[in-house]
Amino acid sequence: MTEPVRQSRHGSFVHLRLAVFVLVALAMLPAVSLPQTAAQAWPTYRATGKPLRVPTRVDTLGQSLLEQTAAIELRRGLLALSGGAPLETGPNNMLLGTVEEMHTDHPKTAVQSLEPDEFLITARRGDLTREIDIIGGSDRGVLYGAYAFLRDLSQGADMSNASLHERPAMPIRWVDEWDNLDGSIERGYAGRSIFFDNGHVRDDLGPVAEYARLLASVGINGCNLNNVNNASDFFTPEMLRGIARIAEVMRPYGVRVGLSADIASPQKIGGLNTFDPLDPGVQKWWAAKVNDIYGFIPDFAGFTVKADSEGQPGPASFGRTPADAANTLAAALALHHGVVLYRAFVYNHHLDWHDPKADRARAAYDIFHPLDGKFAPNVIIQTKEGPIDFQAREPVSPLFGGIPQTNQAMELQITQEYMGQQRHLVYLAPMWKEVLDFDMRVGGASTPVKQVISGQAFHRPLGGMVGVACVGREAWLGSPLALANLYAFGRLAWNPNLTPEQIAAEWTRQTISNDSSVVRIITAMLMQSWPAYESYTGPLGLQTLTDITGSHYGPNVEASERNGWGQWHKADQQGVGFDRTVATGSGYVGQYQPEVAKIYENVATTPDNMLLFFHHVPYTYKLHDGKTVIQYLYDSHYQGAAQAAQFVGEWERLKGRVDPALYADVLPRLIYQAGHAVVWRDAVTQYFLKLGGIPDETGRAGHYPRRLEAEDARLTGYKIVDVNPWEDASGGKAVSCDEATCSAEWTYKGAAGRFNLAVQYFDLQGGVAKFALSINGQSPGPDGSWPADDHLPTPHPHGDNSTRHLAYNVALKPGDTIRVEGAPDGKDRASLDYVETLPATPAP
Ligand code: GCU
Repeated sequence: MTEPVRQSRHGSFVHLRLAVFVLVALAMLPAVSLPQTAAQAWPTYRATGKPLRVPTRVDTLGQSLLEQTAAIELRRGLLALSGGAPLETGPNNMLLGTVEEMHTDHPKTAVQSLEPDEFLITARRGDLTREIDIIGGSDRGVLYGAYAFLRDLSQGADMSNASLHERPAMPIRWVDEWDNLDGSIERGYAGRSIFFDNGHVRDDLGPVAEYARLLASVGINGCNLNNVNNASDFFTPEMLRGIARIAEVMRPYGVRVGLSADIASPQKIGGLNTFDPLDPGVQKWWAAKVNDIYGFIPDFAGFTVKADSEGQPGPASFGRTPADAANTLAAALALHHGVVLYRAFVYNHHLDWHDPKADRARAAYDIFHPLDGKFAPNVIIQTKEGPIDFQAREPVSPLFGGIPQTNQAMELQITQEYMGQQRHLVYLAPMWKEVLDFDMRVGGASTPVKQVISGQAFHRPLGGMVGVACVGREAWLGSPLALANLYAFGRLAWNPNLTPEQIAAEWTRQTISNDSSVVRIITAMLMQSWPAYESYTGPLGLQTLTDITGSHYGPNVEASERNGWGQWHKADQQGVGFDRTVATGSGYVGQYQPEVAKIYENVATTPDNMLLFFHHVPYTYKLHDGKTVIQYLYDSHYQGAAQAAQFVGEWERLKGRVDPALYADVLPRLIYQAGHAVVWRDAVTQYFLKLGGIPDETGRAGHYPRRLEAEDARLTGYKIVDVNPWEDASGGKAVSCDEATCSAEWTYKGAAGRFNLAVQYFDLQGGVAKFALSINGQSPGPDGSWPADDHLPTPHPHGDNSTRHLAYNVALKPGDTIRVEGAPDGKDRASLDYVETLPATPAP
């Protein structure tokens, strides 16, 4: 391939190096030839079928790495969007450059100055030529402009007269990865690390470059690479050399790397006998270590710190404050323009649950509010969006209104730890948007969170958003639709005024299809997914009623009670909810600004969706629409599960209209989710039915007339076992097999008809048990036998691994024998809960 040379009107030659073209050529290879590519996410740049109507010759005014990346990306995008038509060589062009370069090239350029990440895109027409200029405040602005241009173009917009002017709302737009040195990832649900393996940085960093490309395409400019827990091993020279390689592959995309720092490093790896942040020897150690780091990585972004939290060491051991610790690191980093993101996630996990004043939700404010104004200018307090820990719903952390003289960033979780671990469809942008728009009413004036973290509200120089992403080597987030969350995070950090619908539609158009009806269906599914998940897990501010001391995945209502972790919802026979009022409770409400506190202090003005977070009420307490709390709990779980079932039908409408591989990948996930939502529904409703003893008005909770319980079957080989927690099995019991094969048989006594037969079993770790279903000795068809081959948490029967298998459209008549045979394998004991007859539908 030859190297085109462009002469600009003012005679400056820009030589585009051969390497650039080799990269473009490589980029055009089909995505399947690479293990993990950005094109598996949203930058697919599929031809829209419309004429492009923009010049496809791309020239740059500058030589910088980022400008070259912008040109590569544009060429790559234009080539793909035009369906592979060769790029133009004529006089029309797209011209990329910084403001300064534009002024030199076109002295009459109107734009005077732009902030570094800001860009302006304008179309110019000469007598015979057409030009589209992408002008950046710096080369990074140019890159963001190129991506913005492609984003609009790939959604079918007419960009021939493009006029776009954008700048990011906030300076810190980072993702955190919680990767460990051995290649595992804490709270990662997409396989192993793209960065590390077996104690080293991976040799093949191809996926890291692809990740950086993904991040940059939505304006993310920092990536903290390692787990906030146990971080000190990353500071060895060998590791730093490896991290420098990572930084090198991310650099062309304007993504700077950061590292989690263990406050105890001076002692753990530095050989000092203390890590007291005010000890001069410790301070010297940090200064030297930071110098070392910058020797390897000159544009190192900074440190993320988790200290005095969940067993991590911290300044409290020496009677020092987070400000003492943060400022020691900040002093070392300041010389190099690095920052410290010090996490406000500091709390005591040995709280006394008997003490009505003890409240984990109070911790961040109690600790950080008194330190306001004491942090160095390059420290940013990184605060989780809610006061607990990424639950299905929490109120906004009061700390956003509580430290006006301190830089603040909001930490969100992109990886769906408490939100279905990528197995459940949960689009998080609507939740994030509620938080961003929430008005803290500081000083009685409008103070939306988005303006606090952008720095605007309190005139802070730094602030932003950090998303805990935890991507891995399997399709980035482990599930195709989960990628909408990574996309939405970047878009909202760039512009928190975008709406979640808009972002969902944008993402769908780029990732899946430009067909408006497809976009409508997927956008609606995404938008309904968080409310559905909240409804069948933890509504009314109960948080996610999951196994908080275990997997954080399936239901375990009591796991949060009566232990030191402080996620209590305080359910008893009379009522439920945590009194956090100032008048009679933990006093947490008093941490909000008066106007907000007034709303939450009063049970009558507290929004229903947060009621039980703030108040302890009887089960018979009436919500704003007159429904009792207990009836709402029942209804919400049934409605949420019904909604999850509808997602399957919605997706089926897309058959033949989206990529068949994507269709086939997503469908079983949604079918699984629909089944698991039933597990959730039944666990939580059975639990509250038993505890409160108040029946469901509609008779659903705890009554399963179409169910044939395994413990009631004629069992051969199978033994009846208690399931723990009891609510995770229908009737609290299951059967488990210690023989080569076991069977459970029932005589069908219902009406004759066709049914979907749901077989509920526990898919246990440590083997692949096999199941077979038969009616009068005959298999009902291809779905009559199946392996329990999923990889689910918890080794014993539990809501984590309770799984539904459906045999579709099976004919039954009274007297028929329904039989399930289980063949255990290894530790998977083919455990069975029940069989249920559901209305028949055709097999998907
Ligand atoms: C959650 C999560 C932990 C994580 C912690 C944190 O509690 O379960 O794995 O370390 O958040 O944010 O530090």
